[in-house]
Amino acid sequence: MIYLDHNATTPLCPEAREAMLPLLGDLLGNPSGIHASARIARAAVDDARDRIAALLGAKSHEIIFTSGGTESCNLAILGLARRHRSPAKNHLVTASTEHHAVLHAMRALAEREGFELTELPVNEQGVIDPGAFAAALRPETILASVMIANNETGVIQPISELAAICRERGILFHSDAVQAFGKIPCNPRELGVDALSATAHKFYGPHGAGFLWLRSGVSIEAIQHGGFHENERRPGTENVPAIAGMAAAAEVAVREVSAAEESVRESSLRDRLWSGISVIDPTAVHNAAQTHALANTLNVSFPGCDGETLLMGLDLEGVAASSGSACMVGSIQASHVLLAMGVSEELARATVRFSLGRDTTPESIEATLAALSRVLERQFRSPKAVGVKA
Ligand SMILES: Cc1ncc(COP(=O)(O)O)c(C=O)c1O
Repeated sequence: MIYLDHNATTPLCPEAREAMLPLLGDLLGNPSGIHASARIARAAVDDARDRIAALLGAKSHEIIFTSGGTESCNLAILGLARRHRSPAKNHLVTASTEHHAVLHAMRALAEREGFELTELPVNEQGVIDPGAFAAALRPETILASVMIANNETGVIQPISELAAICRERGILFHSDAVQAFGKIPCNPRELGVDALSATAHKFYGPHGAGFLWLRSGVSIEAIQHGGFHENERRPGTENVPAIAGMAAAAEVAVREVSAAEESVRESSLRDRLWSGISVIDPTAVHNAAQTHALANTLNVSFPGCDGETLLMGLDLEGVAASSGSACMVGSIQASHVLLAMGVSEELARATVRFSLGRDTTPESIEATLAALSRVLERQFRSPKAVGVKA
């Protein structure tokens, strides 16, 4: 199989597997206990926390372990909004192209808890305008949340600029770094954010572990009820093997495999993929081509085609790609990200996201192009295929 769906999830790297295996034996104590096997589990969690904090230039207590990106974003948004709300402050700001982990958490606060929400538009390249962002902030604004890089298009937002605008006005700023962490620099203090979310399975770690970095001194309300874990910010027994795997994967992503070098390699493969596609289908559109984006992401609309049918054809050819956000699979809605960029509904439904990774080679790109050419020919362009077209 040729795997071009790394923005959905990445393969487990050997370093993460190695870190996890010793913790997957018969008995692993509960890290909250006091006996020897509990202490082994506690040591693994503490060690992972220290190592992730070191990678971020952070303090260990600033790391809150969670079950992944969705929980980290929910904890940041619900937890900060509820804790910092007052009669004079109830306004939230986000962007229309955020992942649903952010967008739906924000909307839930607006619909069920009486917060006011501004969802800012983006330009046709998917970028938020800092001037419009500043203008949307009010004296009542508590929190803004804007992602570093978009999962569907790879578009990178001007986070430092947006965070600085918030800092000047005493407004909290959270950034969803789920797609960015391990690909581009995500030091939260350098970015100037107050909270930053990440998840292990997007940087070659295991599923089911993530973290929220929360600036020291910023208080947050837990969104689950239970014990006193994670400094009373996230109750529940920690997923110890996954947390250990996450720390090992994070070190590889940020330090050992130079993220910058890998990014250069992937961007040249991505450019080759796009140049090949534009020859196979000269009508194809590279969405967000004119802006600063992740090196591994190529979002392409194929006019006249149905994206889902195209994906199924590619799957039969042994190529795994995606129609956009993995969370949208099975949903009949067109991508909210592309619609927000002004892409028509028809074109949004004719879209495939190719996301490259460490295992992508020049040969796999050429094989993908050959497969794509066969699928387009068979399913959409031959006279027999009339009726299959969207
Ligand atoms: C930008 C972004 N935020 C949040 C998430 C949710 O992360 P998780 O799957 O770990 O819950 C994803 C996953 O696709 C994502 O791409």
